[in-house]
Parts: sequence; C-alpha cells; structure tokens
Amino acid sequence: MQTNYAEEDVLKDTDDLLFSPLRINTTTVRNRFLLPAMQRGSRGYKPTVGMADTLRSTAERGPGIIISEGAAPDHPAGYWQPAFSILGRDTIKEWGHVVREVLSTGDVVLLMQLWHPGALRLVVDGIENPHPDHPAWSPSGLIQEGRTNGVAMSKQDLEDTKNAYVESALIAQRLGAHGIELHCAHGYLLDLFLWHETNRRTDEYGGETLADRAAYPAEIVSAIRAATGPQFIISVRFSQWKEVDYGAKIAAHPDELGPFLERLQQAGADVFHVSARRFDAVAWPELDSRRSVASWVKTMTDRPVMTIGSVGLSTDLASDVFDNQDPVLQVEDDIIRVRRGLEAGDFDMIGVGRAQISNPDFVERVRRADYSNLRDFRKYRDLAEAYESYSHEGQLVDQSRKKD
Ligand SMILES: Cc1cc2nc3c(=O)[nH]c(=O)nc-3n(C[C@H](O)[C@H](O)[C@H](O)COP(=O)(O)O)c2cc1C
Repeated sequence: MQTNYAEEDVLKDTDDLLFSPLRINTTTVRNRFLLPAMQRGSRGYKPTVGMADTLRSTAERGPGIIISEGAAPDHPAGYWQPAFSILGRDTIKEWGHVVREVLSTGDVVLLMQLWHPGALRLVVDGIENPHPDHPAWSPSGLIQEGRTNGVAMSKQDLEDTKNAYVESALIAQRLGAHGIELHCAHGYLLDLFLWHETNRRTDEYGGETLADRAAYPAEIVSAIRAATGPQFIISVRFSQWKEVDYGAKIAAHPDELGPFLERLQQAGADVFHVSARRFDAVAWPELDSRRSVASWVKTMTDRPVMTIGSVGLSTDLASDVFDNQDPVLQVEDDIIRVRRGLEAGDFDMIGVGRAQISNPDFVERVRRADYSNLRDFRKYRDLAEAYESYSHEGQLVDQSRKKD
C-alpha cells in the first residue's frame, strides 16, 4: 500500500498539531483535516465514476478523513432526487468502486455518511423517482414551525427506517469503510428530531430537553453499534443552524449539550462532528466571549470533536450557496486561527469543504505553507455539474427560509 508522506516529512511534522495523528476508536487518523460530506457526484441515486475520481484525488493530497457524500438508507421515504445517492443493495457496486478508489491512496480513513431527507423530500413531476406516492417522513410532519410536509412517522415507520440505516451501515462496513457518519444536522430527518420546533411528539421520541429528543438518533446509533461491532467508527454530525433557518438552535444553552452528548456516547458514538457556519463563531457570547459550539462540546465529552465552517473563505455555506455572496479567500489567516483553536483544545479535527472543492491540494498546500495561486470557490463553476443534475423546481428547502 502506498503511503502519502515521506518519512522525513512525518518527522518534520510531529511538532505541528495540524499534522499530528489522532486516535478515533481504535483507528489512527494521520492528521487533523477532514473532507466533509458534500453531495455533488450522484446520478440515478448512485455514485458516479466522477465521484470516485474526485474523492480519490483529494485523498491522495492529504486529509486524514474523507467523508463520502450523504447517502440515504434504502427506503421509499429516502428517495428524493436522483442527484442524491442511496446506500443499499442496488448501489453496492458503484459504492464499492468509490471505497476502493479512496482506500487505494493509502492510510486515509473513510467514513460513509448516512443522510435522510426527512420532511424536505419533495417529488417533482418529471424527476425520476421510484416511489413518487410515498409521503415525506419526519417526527411531526413539520419542516419548521407552521410548515408541514408529509406525515409524522409511526412506531413501525421508525423501526423500518432504523433497520434501513443499519443495513446501510453494514454495507459500508462490508465495503471496507472505517465507519459511518450519522447526519443529524442542517434540518434533515434526524435533526428534525433534535429541533424543538419540528419534534412535537408526546411519545418517548419527543420531549422538553435536547437529550429527550435525541432518543431516536441514539436508538439508531445503538443499533448500528450492535450490528457493526466495537471497532467500527460512528460519527454523529449535528448543527445549530438549519438550511431553512440560519439562526435555529437545538441547544438554547450549553448546559443542554452535556446530557445530549452523554446519551449518544452511551449509545456508541465515537466522535462528534459539529457543523457550524463558521468554525470559530462565538456560540453564547453572554456566557463566554471566546467559545464556539465545538469548544463547548469539547468541555463536555472525552470523545474527539471535529468541526467545520468557512475555513479559508470569507462567507459561509448558506450566504454563499443560498444567498449568492461569493466568498473571498483568506486561507493563511484562517489556518493561523485553526492552529490556535487546536492548541487551545477547542476541537480535535477541522473540516474544509468548499475550499477543498476548488483546491483538492489544500492540505498539501498547508503542509508546505504555500498559499500562492489558490483558486477561489465559485459555486456556478465548481458545482456546475451538480447544479445541472439537481431540480430546483419548488424545492421546499428554498422556500420560507429564515435568514440572518
Ligand atoms: C455542494 C455541497 C454539498 C453538501 N452536501 C452535504 C452532505 O451531503 N451532507 C452534509 O452533512 N453536509 C453537506 N454539505 C455541507 C458541508 O459538509 C459543510 O458542512 C459545509 O460546506 C461547510 O463547510 P465549508 O464552509 O468549509 O464549505 C454540503 C456542502 C456543499 C457545498
């Protein structure tokens, strides 16, 4: 197997926390960078050869973890647009190619993200969907307060969906991935359970506290852990912000985070991935003038904490991709901030999304401190093919968005 770094480079890097190894469960991650899940390379509900090429060429250039783009468990409610993959029996061949390509680069760690559209699923006429009549599923039939789509899930629906998640995780394991990431962020299915606005259930899956509302995600984590054994990595990704509401909060106060993390940890989570609009944005300025959400999380768990948000770029994902504010590059300054955050113990790993799409050699550049001629991120250029394959017609995620 090829290794990506020459020995002298590894030795040279040992003083640099950004390039120091990290243990997650029993797996060693070679450095502190990750490529997050970014849906852009699927067609017909399957990953393309292009996705495999893109992920391989990024893996070759250095991040410790590659997270594959979000793929839905194979259940009728998980089919939204063919631009978003399913991870199920019918897509094993294509996913197998992606996994082999990424792992062929050497010592990178691969996590496959499991995502479910939840209440945001909308079947549009003329867009291929094998289950057009199946309703969208969510905890209470809500996208956000006052906006409905689809139906609240019954106990049987919850059981079936959980089983489909487990099936996907087992496929990921059989294909050779090191683990999975459970997408509980951005307003999709599992986040709709966490968010008080959209989880109005009065059964054991709802409740007053964030820890109460984490019951269903925790049940899925626990079922995946039982099926995959002790060493398979399970990452749980969550966010305060939602695509339909940038200012949303699943935790009104940091005190809510401790019991929530504890519940997921008890269920079998190995690592928490805090998705922020900007990685170092101060979360509760009235309580602490410095701490980000990830940094608060770090004080409440002994599990590794990954975070992300606008590294190298002046505008966040929402302002950029939804509100057309093209970002300006600020890589050198941000890497200084990332190093400070790591050294302060605010997080253990950092994600770089858009800046790694436009610069697949981002991590190599940071290692060499070579910030010359980096490419801007421009959505209509860098995501051109993804935009072509996605139908924007009437999409619920684009309507009634609460912005800053
Ligand atoms: C094209 C695109 C697709 C994305 N798809 C996913 C996804 O499948 N799952 C997910 O959790 N986040 C997804 N995201 C969000 C990213 O994982 C990441 O959190 C976000 O881009 C912020 O990081 P950045 O500021 O470094 O770009 C996507 C982002 C982009 C740009």
